[in-house]
Amino acid sequence: MISWDEYNEEAANGASATATQAAPEVVSAAAAALQTPAPETQTAADIVQARANVKATVAPLAAAAAAVEPEVEASTSQEVPAAEPTVEPDTAALISAAHEAVATMDVAAGIEELEMGAQRIEVDQKRMINCRADLNQLVPFKYDWAWQKYLDGCANHWMPQEVNMNADISLWKTEGGLSDDERRIVMRSLGYFSTADSLVANNLVLALYRLITNPECRQYILRQAFEEAIHTHAYQYCIESLGMDEGEVFNMYREVPSVAKKAAWSLSHTHSLSDPTFNTGTHETDQELLRNLIGFYAVTEGIFFYCGFTQILSMGRRNKMTGVAEQFQYILRDESMHLNFGIDVINQIKLENPTLWSEEFQQEVIQMILEGTEIEIEYARDTMPRGVLGMNAQMMEEYLHFIANRRLAQLGLPEQYTVAANPFPWMSEIMDLRKEKNFFETRVIEYQTGGALSWE
Ligand SMILES: [Fe+2]
Ligand SMILES: [Fe+2]
Repeated sequence: MISWDEYNEEAANGASATATQAAPEVVSAAAAALQTPAPETQTAADIVQARANVKATVAPLAAAAAAVEPEVEASTSQEVPAAEPTVEPDTAALISAAHEAVATMDVAAGIEELEMGAQRIEVDQKRMINCRADLNQLVPFKYDWAWQKYLDGCANHWMPQEVNMNADISLWKTEGGLSDDERRIVMRSLGYFSTADSLVANNLVLALYRLITNPECRQYILRQAFEEAIHTHAYQYCIESLGMDEGEVFNMYREVPSVAKKAAWSLSHTHSLSDPTFNTGTHETDQELLRNLIGFYAVTEGIFFYCGFTQILSMGRRNKMTGVAEQFQYILRDESMHLNFGIDVINQIKLENPTLWSEEFQQEVIQMILEGTEIEIEYARDTMPRGVLGMNAQMMEEYLHFIANRRLAQLGLPEQYTVAANPFPWMSEIMDLRKEKNFFETRVIEYQTGGALSWE
């Protein structure tokens, strides 16, 4: 086995080789830019001159003046032309004014909302929603499970470019390499997921983040938001690698009815919360937040992802589209953690606010789970008009009933479907969190052999 350092070095070499191969003109342009001295502009000359004046008259401020020297920012992708100064800058006066402002700054006014001199945060003051304690202090932890999930998420970090897509590209471009039904599944999956993870990310960042008033949960939400970006990146990477029509794939969520219905259902649960004036604090608004959490964590990530994941992973088990399947496998592991985090948050809110979980509301939540299940069954029928990959829509329906029962049980609600058996027990095996301990070790071995994951 190679060491982690060797692995990193190998990955870095591989990445730079890929970059050179993919865009040599970009690489050489970047190299040239790094060697080119900063262009002297009128503004820069003025500032240098002004700084000389300052040095002569305000010696103690010389170090601060150095900070205004223009820098070459090699990482910016666009050159922004320097604005012509309309007034001759009086740098010495500006620095003097800044010095004066800092010296006379009213600290109390700036941190008024932090309650200067207030008692230190106690664990018992922390609450999942409507918390009045300081949200800038991560510790002491109240919800250790949230912090642990943040750590687990970081330990499972991965990037889409690390997955070898060569076999997929060859198979996808070979006439008759995949059947029409198999191609339909790949297209529909990438069509749904390429926008679904953006919907989830937007809901996290634009709606949920400010309403979940607990720092350790916010820390996990930030991690999850980045993982959603990686997932969207992974789908884009697959679409680009396979040379698909990007317009067709990315617009599927509003052009193909079975995909559009899923996206529309999810979006209907983020509208009110993403209004910047929305706030929790009343029975109705707190329940609205719960609806959003259930709509996104339990249904979108907990049900809507399962038909597509099962189809693509089944393809990988049959040694087809193994690169796409490997990406989906990493995503599924992330998603199972997102789901579990969301369920924990929902159950914690229930515990802290028992009146929200009324009989009537429970019926509404059951209805949401059943609606999501029916929508996903429609998607299964649309994507599998015939048997394919050792499965069919009927088996998927059975599996989705099994999944829906799981979601209901996780939320403390009665199961609604009679399920004889889980038709895809291997899906649970793939998601098995105990395996995550060996996640990196497995990947390092795969790098060494250059092979794909083994699919039983
Ligand atoms: Fe995701
Ligand atoms: Fe997710």
